[in-house]
Amino acid sequence: MTDIALLGFGTVGSGVAEVIDDRREYIKKRLGDEVRVKYILDLRDFPGSRYESRIVHDYGIILNDPDVRVVAEMMGGVHPAADFSRAALEAGKSVVTSNKAVVADCGAELLELARKRGVRYLFEASVGGGIPVVRPMTDDLAENEITKISGILNGTTNFILSKMESEGASFPDALAEAQRLGYAEADPTADVEGYDAARKILILAALAWGKLFPLEAVETLGIRSLTRADVEAAASEGYRVKLVATAEKLANGKIALSVSPRRVPSGTVLASTDGVFNAVRITGSVTGDVLFYGRGAGKLPTAGAVVSDIIDALERKSFAPPALFWGKGTASDVSSAGDLYLSVLD
Ligand code: HSE
Repeated sequence: MTDIALLGFGTVGSGVAEVIDDRREYIKKRLGDEVRVKYILDLRDFPGSRYESRIVHDYGIILNDPDVRVVAEMMGGVHPAADFSRAALEAGKSVVTSNKAVVADCGAELLELARKRGVRYLFEASVGGGIPVVRPMTDDLAENEITKISGILNGTTNFILSKMESEGASFPDALAEAQRLGYAEADPTADVEGYDAARKILILAALAWGKLFPLEAVETLGIRSLTRADVEAAASEGYRVKLVATAEKLANGKIALSVSPRRVPSGTVLASTDGVFNAVRITGSVTGDVLFYGRGAGKLPTAGAVVSDIIDALERKSFAPPALFWGKGTASDVSSAGDLYLSVLD
C-alpha cells in the first residue's frame, strides 16, 4: 500500500479522491501497488462523506507520517499552501499541485528544494486544467528552442466572452453563470482582470526559458471593460475576441509577456476555443507549431491532471528534468509587449 495525503477537499480535492477511487485497479496494475488516500487536510469535517474518517485538521499528522509519500496540494492561495508544500518537500515527500499562484510565486524555490531532497515537485494541473501541457513541454518538446507561446488560459473569461458573443449576455450575467457552474474562483477578480492567465503564462515561460518572472513582468489587461459592441464589431470584421496570454522570445533574446483581449481570426483553433475550453499554441524551432486543446477548468479534468502527477511522482521518484530548474527572471530580461488591447493575434 502506498499512502498519499490531500491538502484541501474542495472542488478539485474531492475530484482527486474520486478519480483515485475510480481508477484504483488501473493505478494498482501500473504501479504494482495500491494507492491509498490516507489523510485529507481541511478546515471542515464533511460529516456523512465516505472520506469523513480520513479528514484531519492538523498538518503535523501528515508531515510526521513516514508512510505518506506524496502530498497533493489543492488549497488555492499562496499562504499557507506554499509553506505546507515547502514543509512536505523538506520532509522528503513529493508534492503535486493544482495551485498556479504557488507555482508562479515560489516555483523556482520549490523545484530547487525538491532537487535537493531528491523528490518531485509537479504541477500539471496548474496550467490548462485537464490539458497536458506542462509534461509535454518538459519532456516531449525538450529538443525545441521555444520562440512563442499563445494561449487561451482562463476558462472563466472564455466562458464569459462566449456567452456575450453567442447569447448577447451582459458581462455580470455571464460571470454569475460561470460562478454557478464552478468555473470561476470564489473571488473572480484574478480571472476577470487577467491575473490568473498571467500566472499561467509565467509558468509556461519558465518551462520554455528557465526563468520565472514576477507577475508585474506580464503586461496584463482584463476583460472587465469589454462591451458587447467590442465583441460585435470584431465579429463583423471576421474576428472573435479572446483573452490571450502570450510569451515571446524576441530576436534580442528578451522575453515579452502579455495578457490582453485580442482579436483572433475566425476559423483558427484559438478562435474556436469556446466556453471553459482552453488552447495553447507553442512554437518550437524543431517541431513548428503544436496545439494543445481541452478543458481548462472544472472538477474532474483538473483532478485528472493532479492524479497524473501523483502517478508520475510515484513512478519516477527522484527524477527531475533539468528544464525544470528555474532561475529568477529580472527586468533586464524583459521587453515591452506594446499596446495589444483588441489587436489582431497572428
Ligand atoms: N479560474 C480558473 C479558470 C480555473 O477560469 O481558468 C482554472 O485554473
